[in-house]
Amino acid sequence: LPRLYSGMQPSADSLHAGNYIGAILQWKKLQSSHDALFSVVDMHAITVPQDPTELREKTRRTAAQYIAAGIDPASSTLYVQSHVPAHAELAWVLNTITGFGEAGRMTQFKDKSQKQGADATSVGLLAYPVLMAADILLYKADVVPVGDDQKQHVELTRDLAMRFNSRFGDTFVLPRPVIQKETARIYDLQSPGSKMSKSTDSTAGVVWLLDEPGVTAKKIMRAVTDNDGVVRFDRESKPGVSNLLTIFSVLSGRSIETLENEYAGRGYGDFKKDLATVVVDEFEPVRARTLELLDDPAELDRLLAINADRASEIAEQTLATVYERIGFLRKV
Ligand code: TYM
Repeated sequence: LPRLYSGMQPSADSLHAGNYIGAILQWKKLQSSHDALFSVVDMHAITVPQDPTELREKTRRTAAQYIAAGIDPASSTLYVQSHVPAHAELAWVLNTITGFGEAGRMTQFKDKSQKQGADATSVGLLAYPVLMAADILLYKADVVPVGDDQKQHVELTRDLAMRFNSRFGDTFVLPRPVIQKETARIYDLQSPGSKMSKSTDSTAGVVWLLDEPGVTAKKIMRAVTDNDGVVRFDRESKPGVSNLLTIFSVLSGRSIETLENEYAGRGYGDFKKDLATVVVDEFEPVRARTLELLDDPAELDRLLAINADRASEIAEQTLATVYERIGFLRKV
C-alpha cells in the first residue's frame, strides 16, 4: 500500500470545520487504501507560546477528535509527535541543508512573523516547515493530504528530499501533496475573505467540531452573506454564500448546482436553517464520541503509546540510514 502522512497542531480545544472538511474527511476516505500515519504535532504547536497544562489537554483532545471522526487507531497509526524523538533528530539534520532565506520565504512564516515582530518570533517558527519535512520524510510517505495552506510546506519537503538524495545518495521518497480542490480552503463565516483559523481574534465565524449544537446553528444563521438574496456560487462577488454552499455540498453529498436549484427564489433563511441541520447532524456524533473518549484518558494514552511504538519502528530505521549517510560515527 502507498504510504500516507498527515498531522494537525493541538493548538485549540477543538478542531474547526476547516480542519474537518479540508483534512479529516480526506484522511477518512484515504486511510483504508493507504498505510496511513496521523500525528498530533505538539512540537509544531510550541513554535508559538502555549500554556503547558493546556497543551497536554489539547493534545489528548485532538487525538480523541481524530478517533471520534473516524480515524481507526487499530489500522492507521495515530500518535503524538513528541513521543517519537526521531522527528527532532531528523529535523536537525534537515535544518543544516535548508537555506536561511529559503525558510524565510515561506508565506505562513512571513505572515506570522510580521504580525508578531522579529523579537517575538522564535527560531522554532522559522524552522517549523523543516520539522514538517522531517515528519513526512521519516516515514517515506508517498502522499500528504492537506488543505491549501500547507501546500508550500510540502513543496519545501520535496526540495529538501531531492537535495539530500543528490548530496548523500537516494534516501527519501518525494511526497506528493493531495489537495481536494473544492474544499482546500474553508473560510471564516464572519469574514469570508479569510480562511477559517484556530487563531483568529473573534471566533464568531469559526465553527468548532466540539461546539454545542445550538452554538453551531447560531453561528451558521449569523453567517455573513450579501444583499442580493440569491443562493448561487460565485467566489468573487458572493464569498459568504459560496463558502456556505461548499460546506453544504461536501457534508450533504449534493452538488452545488443541485443546491442552487433547490433554494432558487427562497432567500437565505431556509438555506441557512437546512445547512445548520446538516452540520449539526455531522458534528454532533463526533462531539459526543470525543467527550466519551476523553472520559477515559488512561485508555487514550495507552492507545497513543502503542501507536507511537509502531511509528518509532519506521522512524528509527530511516534516521539510522540518514546518520550513516551523513557520516555520523555509529555508537557501538
Ligand atoms: P494545521 O494544524 O494548521 O491544520 C491541520 C489541517 O487542516 C487544514 N486546514 C484547512 N483546510 C481547509 N480550510 C481551512 N480553513 C483550513 N485550516 C486548516 C490544513 O491545511 C491542515 O491540513 N503544519 C501543519 C501540520 C503538520 C503536517 C505535518 C501536515 C505538521 N506536520 C506533516 C501534514 C504532514 C499545520 O499546522 O496544520
